[in-house]
Amino acid sequence: MKKVFLETFGCQMNVSDSERVATDLAAKGFEITADQDSADIILLNTCSVREKAEHKLYTRVGQIRHTAVKKPMIGVMGCVAQLEGETLFKKISGVDLVIGTRAVGRVSDAIARVLEDGPGHADLGEREFDYDWNVADAHRHSPYVAFVPIIEGCNKFCTYCIVPFSRGRERSLPATEIVRTVLELRRQGVKEVHLIGQNVNSYRPETRSGLEGFAGATPFSKLLRAVAATDVERIKFNTSFPRDFHPDIVDAINEHENLCNWVHLPVQSGSNRVLKAMRRLHTIESYMSKIDKLKASKRDISITTDIIVGFPGETEADFEDTKHLVEYCGYDSAYIFRYSPRPGTPAFEMVDDVSLEEKTRRFRELEDLQRSLQANNLQRYHNRSLEVLAEKRSVKTEEHLSGHSTCHKVVNFAGSSDMLGRIVNVKITEIKSNSLFGVAA
Ligand code: 5AD
Ligand code: SF4
Repeated sequence: MKKVFLETFGCQMNVSDSERVATDLAAKGFEITADQDSADIILLNTCSVREKAEHKLYTRVGQIRHTAVKKPMIGVMGCVAQLEGETLFKKISGVDLVIGTRAVGRVSDAIARVLEDGPGHADLGEREFDYDWNVADAHRHSPYVAFVPIIEGCNKFCTYCIVPFSRGRERSLPATEIVRTVLELRRQGVKEVHLIGQNVNSYRPETRSGLEGFAGATPFSKLLRAVAATDVERIKFNTSFPRDFHPDIVDAINEHENLCNWVHLPVQSGSNRVLKAMRRLHTIESYMSKIDKLKASKRDISITTDIIVGFPGETEADFEDTKHLVEYCGYDSAYIFRYSPRPGTPAFEMVDDVSLEEKTRRFRELEDLQRSLQANNLQRYHNRSLEVLAEKRSVKTEEHLSGHSTCHKVVNFAGSSDMLGRIVNVKITEIKSNSLFGVAA
């Protein structure tokens, strides 16, 4: 029995693809191992969203080649695989197999080819969309939390972003299939499902079947109500595209307790001039009106975002606008990135005129600002009781458990291991920079 070690970089879509590959390989007689040294096959599921993420692949292949006791087969999956294709065999010595983002259903065939014919096989073919992903014996990153892709790919072509090239065009999965999957996960004891996609709220299935009878101004808000009706305990969704963020999504959250009070709405910049150059299709004014709607909810919705600093042409005044926007929105957390030119994107043709030092200065300044605003903002949770899904034992001490609140904050708390897999009330006693601490009630 061949042992496979899978390592995943990047976003939740990659995590989800790795879960599907692990499930599929296990069903076909491979053993999925957590021990790299005993693996016959190592699959690296890669990310190319920023240059740094891509460099990790080069470093990892080198490390494996130098340290591996037995010489494993090395396969590269994910975005770098899709973009580079067969050139990877030349670029990185030691790669045996390349599997594109749309070939995740055929990994076992690709491995068989290399075992028979030797290294150098690449599969960049199209996805089989009717592929029956086995939910019953799935290998998931958590027994209690499951990622459910609802839309794959991206049609937005923001000028800085490689994703439309590495993941192809948007395709929404049928609502009936999504609801069936969620019902099966619930039956298996999953407490929290994440509906995932590059832009979940651009959800537009070819067939509406499964959504008739559900209220909603957009297919996505109908889908939210349909999934809420499964009665699974918690539903989160990620990522939302600001232009397509209809106020009806907030209405759905207000109506259904199991639609969680967390929305990730990447703004990228606080300057309309930069947003236009990024081709984000929203303005600061339209974005702020969505934030206002979210803040008016009775649910205390936690809002998080992504921001890029140092985009080509970003001036000090543009950067100041971003700081003002961050002050206005009151994010519970923000992922801040230095602009990284990606070959093949429209922004790659623009002059990368903000120096690395300046990008770093803006990055640190914005991080400091967000950290202090966040510290203040999170005080609202102090002494409050939050519902937390007890997901695992804390890595630091035996007596502590760790999980997420409905608002998707990491909460570490004193509790007993019989709580694992349950949603428990935790009284928050301490606010830390990236997590909350409390005691199970
Ligand atoms: N440079 C820096 N950050 C980027 N992101 C996407 N592309 C780039 C790039 N070329 C960021 C965006 C996106 C997040 C997933 O990664 O903020 O929302
Ligand atoms: Fe990239 Fe924009 Fe698509 Fe998000 S919406 S994946 S940032 S192109």
